[in-house]
Amino acid sequence: MSDTRDTNDTIGIDDLPIREELKGQSPYGAPQLDVPVQLNTNENPYPLPEPLVARIAERVAEAARGLNRYPDRDAVELRTELARYLTRTGGHPVSRENVWAANGSNEVLQQLLQTFGGPGRTAIGFEPSYSMHALIARGTGTGWISGPRNEDFTIDVEAAEAAVAEHAPDVVFVTSPNNPTGTAVEAEVVVRLYDAAQAAKPSLVVVDEAYVEFSHRDSLLPLLEGRPHLVVSRTMSKAFGAAGLRLGYLAAHPAVVDAVQLVRLPYHLSAVTQATALAALEHTDTLLGYVEQLKAERDRLVAELRAVGYEVTESDANFVQFGRFPDAHQAWRKILDRGVLVRDNGVPGWLRVTAGTPEENDAFLDAVRELKKEQNA
Ligand SMILES: Cc1ncc(COP(=O)(O)O)c(C=O)c1O
Repeated sequence: MSDTRDTNDTIGIDDLPIREELKGQSPYGAPQLDVPVQLNTNENPYPLPEPLVARIAERVAEAARGLNRYPDRDAVELRTELARYLTRTGGHPVSRENVWAANGSNEVLQQLLQTFGGPGRTAIGFEPSYSMHALIARGTGTGWISGPRNEDFTIDVEAAEAAVAEHAPDVVFVTSPNNPTGTAVEAEVVVRLYDAAQAAKPSLVVVDEAYVEFSHRDSLLPLLEGRPHLVVSRTMSKAFGAAGLRLGYLAAHPAVVDAVQLVRLPYHLSAVTQATALAALEHTDTLLGYVEQLKAERDRLVAELRAVGYEVTESDANFVQFGRFPDAHQAWRKILDRGVLVRDNGVPGWLRVTAGTPEENDAFLDAVRELKKEQNA
């Protein structure tokens, strides 16, 4: 007994024979603190509506009767419905052959890097951006290149083209709207980066549209036309209010969908997940109604923060980056002391708040108004 305790105490991760590049690293994760108002993880604040909960129960019960069997390995019905959703809302016709789904878009991105990245290969992202891109690169043994952005957090196209030409990466990430800044990317920028990436390698260009439903702009999906090395990745975690479901998907040329089959685990998407996602897709219109409310709340946060005297980055997402603080972490702590949890993403001078319910947003605005008074005092 005491021997076991001794062993538990003295052996740490770095004492294990793990891969060299993992030594000294920390896992991804926002602090999960038990405070009244949690606006730190870009979740949708609205629980799923009761009629949808009932439909999930029905669909899952049906799936449960067949759980002695492996699920549909190719998720045909789900991919068909996701393609229908994209065609309806994305401004570009997409069919099942263009769509692939996995457990969250993080898994989709991991499968893409397992297929197109890996040891001896590199990926580039324009930072600050979604930190999991770099972490998934590390996890798959893909070298990471941090590309530049402008002061206002838009992509500096010429510098980005030059970085792509210089490094000739195998995978290029473009996040639109970008996390944590909220910045959308213009179609012309993606086209220029795609052309630069094809001239340099050719490489795969992944447009991460996790937040696109909240954008003032249209999806970049129509860019798939005639660009076989372009991928658009999406998720049901944000607009569909289903972060707990773990369902992400991509749209691309059918050859890309065939390529990720080489690395996906067999039966990776459980029958329960497929049934739940199909139920949620039946309620698309109701869920997109909540998105409209959240967009209005996001715009209100931007306007009110500016009125209080904060700088705010233009946001096309369900969150807002605000600042500037001489010490962002201290400001984060002071907002937390007032019962509101926002996110310190490590962007010097800036914090990020997720749009919550009107009441949650009011609590946040009260907290930052007080903070501003304190700063001005
Ligand atoms: C830009 C971006 N992409 C992808 C994801 C991952 O989403 P999920 O794995 O829940 O689909 C997130 C989550 O916050 C994100 O911010």
